[in-house]
Amino acid sequence: MTKKYNVAVVGATGAVGQKMIETLQRRNFPVNKLKLLASAKSAGKMLNYKDELIVVEELTEASFEGINIALFSAGGSISEKYAPYAVDSGAVVIDNTSHFRMKEDVPLVVPEVNPEDIFTHQGIIANPNCSTIQMVLSLKPIADHLGLKKVVVSTYQAVSGTGKKAIEELKEQSSAFLNKEKYTPKVYPHTISFNLIPQIDVFEENGFTKEEMKMINETKKIMHDAKIQVNATCVRVPVFVGHSESVYVETEKPINVEELRGLWEKFEGLKLIDDPKEQLYPMPRNSEGVFDTMVGRLRKDVNSDHAASFWVVADNLLKGAALNAVQIAEKLISN
Ligand code: A2P
Repeated sequence: MTKKYNVAVVGATGAVGQKMIETLQRRNFPVNKLKLLASAKSAGKMLNYKDELIVVEELTEASFEGINIALFSAGGSISEKYAPYAVDSGAVVIDNTSHFRMKEDVPLVVPEVNPEDIFTHQGIIANPNCSTIQMVLSLKPIADHLGLKKVVVSTYQAVSGTGKKAIEELKEQSSAFLNKEKYTPKVYPHTISFNLIPQIDVFEENGFTKEEMKMINETKKIMHDAKIQVNATCVRVPVFVGHSESVYVETEKPINVEELRGLWEKFEGLKLIDDPKEQLYPMPRNSEGVFDTMVGRLRKDVNSDHAASFWVVADNLLKGAALNAVQIAEKLISN
């Protein structure tokens, strides 16, 4: 008989938490008992899992008794405070926030890229930043076969990455704009409807945003290569679900686009959609609910055989968050 696990989802009522519950179900994760945790205001709410209705409980220090795996997605400060209680209770924490990601004794894992790191955990495994996850999937075959020197990425990130309040803000603001009504932004520093905001998270001293620095630092950690030069510009766009990225790479070896397409086609978790004649390429509208990360628009640099541009799209709530976390849990229990 398959062993079953007691799983807790912290932030179960949130945009990512909901997807965690859905993903456990869709992938038939061997759940014995599912515990759904959120803030006091959600306690008593009922959420669906398979054909059960589960009561949401308030997160407390004692929530983790008997829990084997705790999936956290309720914000960095909640992870900081409560993940240690989960670990002390004997659970393995898979944390979707940025709080533990760069800590030396915390593995940062994309299961198709660095699965071996999972087994070095000391109780906490970090799920990388959403934009970083989908990018490193596309970069891994390039690094393995062509040698990866430099990456320049611009992102087009959906509002659902900010959480359910941002989804509401885009809906309300769009309708207010079309009805010529006034709407003061609450979640973002500027209007997001019919606009682009070239700022995700706060600015750092060096002029990059925290999100951009996450992409730079996390890529090096996941790919075990501190020498890869990464430069990122992160932009919030008025899209509900699906992050898109324009990526430019420089490689050690010359690039043959047909070979690279073949490498991507064979790589687990990637789906190649690249047929310019038919106007086929990945788009965020096609990514919603899809587990695979989509790549396309591959073309060699007109000035160099050692450089190419391409386009990567994924469901930010799934591969960028919930799915990657559940895949980490799957690898963890497979050992
Ligand atoms: P709640 O719905 O009760 O506020 P999102 O990222 O979509 O905004 O979701 C954030 C998630 O984190 C929600 O499930 C939210 O629960 C949860 N959360 C926020 N603050 C706390 C807290 N203090 N304790 C537990 N869960 C929290």
